[in-house]
Amino acid sequence: MATPYIVTISSEKGGVGKTTLATNLAIYLKALHEDLDVTLLSFDNHFSVDQMFSISRQPVRGDVSSLFTGTNPDELIEIGEYGVQFIPSSNQLHILRRDLEDPSLLIRALAKSSLGGIVIIDTRPDLDIFTQNALFAADRVIVPVKDAPSMDNCRHIYDFFDSHGLSRRPLRILPCLVDGRIHFDGPFRDPYQLLKAYAINRGYRCMEGYIAKSPKVESLNTNPEGKIFPVLTHGRHTEVHVQMTHVARQVYLHSIDIDQRRLDEYCTDMAHAEHEHQGAYEKRRSNLQAGCLVCGQPLVGKEVIGPAGYFAQSSDFRISGYLEDECFNSLVFRYFYGAKRTIEAHDPIWDLFRESAQRSYFVLQRAPHTRNFYQQKLSFYRFDDNGLEVSHKTIELQEFEKRLLTKERSDLFPLLERTLFDKEGRLGDAFLLLRKVGSDLPEEILYDQNFSNFAAVMAKVSTQLP
Ligand SMILES: Nc1ncnc2c1ncn2[C@@H]1O[C@H](COP(=O)(O)OP(=O)(O)O)[C@@H](O)[C@H]1O
Ligand SMILES: [Mg+2]
Repeated sequence: MATPYIVTISSEKGGVGKTTLATNLAIYLKALHEDLDVTLLSFDNHFSVDQMFSISRQPVRGDVSSLFTGTNPDELIEIGEYGVQFIPSSNQLHILRRDLEDPSLLIRALAKSSLGGIVIIDTRPDLDIFTQNALFAADRVIVPVKDAPSMDNCRHIYDFFDSHGLSRRPLRILPCLVDGRIHFDGPFRDPYQLLKAYAINRGYRCMEGYIAKSPKVESLNTNPEGKIFPVLTHGRHTEVHVQMTHVARQVYLHSIDIDQRRLDEYCTDMAHAEHEHQGAYEKRRSNLQAGCLVCGQPLVGKEVIGPAGYFAQSSDFRISGYLEDECFNSLVFRYFYGAKRTIEAHDPIWDLFRESAQRSYFVLQRAPHTRNFYQQKLSFYRFDDNGLEVSHKTIELQEFEKRLLTKERSDLFPLLERTLFDKEGRLGDAFLLLRKVGSDLPEEILYDQNFSNFAAVMAKVSTQLP
């Protein structure tokens, strides 16, 4: 399947020539390479692209906003003037903007499409989420710069690349709207030389050449037909024509020279991450203790897990496994809620506890300063969904040491022995974190997202424990 080469035109300054560059670049590329698919789209809310390229008066099937709501780009592409394809612009982006945070939506949409060739993306003069998506997907980012302030603004684009762990390699500055009438004394003779020196000084790389300011080009937007004319057809005698040709050549050459296109790189990364994730789940699954951590009844089979009521993991990550619902509930009532009598199976208190347990995390941990063999104490904590402490209670373990001597094992003992005891049979430094699981799919808690929530609560809990 073809992979498109993606060029994003971006600068936080308005009026630096982004849209003029994006639209004309599309036309020059098509003119230089007739067989090349060139597709243009714009996240600007002006309709210059549509004005310049739209042929049909047919109602459109969708616009650039649909790229962010799951539509395959293939369904949105229109054939336009000069053989350039385009996706219609949208005036609804401001509504969508509020709900979007993910800069990888566009690249994922492009991964679904059969689009090849070169895709050119025009952006708004800020770093909103649509610009971010266009930057994230780009093989080449051209940043038009016309003066020192617009050069200063480039920093934010570089920061975006750095903060997302993206290589700065695609980024190129292009001096635009360079006024040939201005001359300086000294080493930098004109605005072009000066801008180039600024860029190099900041470690920014430049495209070769620049785009001059030309009254003829400016006038292509304003005419009795209400159209926007290309430099190629209406400004052939300007120096901008030569300069656009040069920029288009550089873009084309990079598109065939580049080792790996950004979209391919992204897809490889995703496949890799997916593989790693699966590996992580499998590993968590295979590290589980086979039986209920309280009674030893087998719970973890090759195919299915259950019947399980709780998942437990020690904070040193040595032990993880499941507990039967009954087993844990009765321990809690007997040892920590001080139930004097045996609670009958049909007692509504069970349902009440089960229901509230779904919004809790439980912790078992040796009470502080009780490492001495005969004086061990065990603390039981309850935390809420956000990992904030709700209650706690500490009990003496001495008592069941005595019981042990009389061979009357406490029900708590096997759980502690399996999870928290060290080699000498004493409570170690780790704590045990427990969480209620759904009875239909207890392994759900081992899935990446769920497990990372569980691990996050564990981290938060550990900062609050003594
Ligand atoms: N090379 C140029 N010479 C003269 N005027 C230009 C040139 N390029 C763009 N312009 C004019 O500058 C204004 C801003 O250009 P535009 O491409 O819309 O910038 P942006 O998209 O960055 O806001 C427009 O009026 C456009 O006609
Ligand atoms: Mg614009």
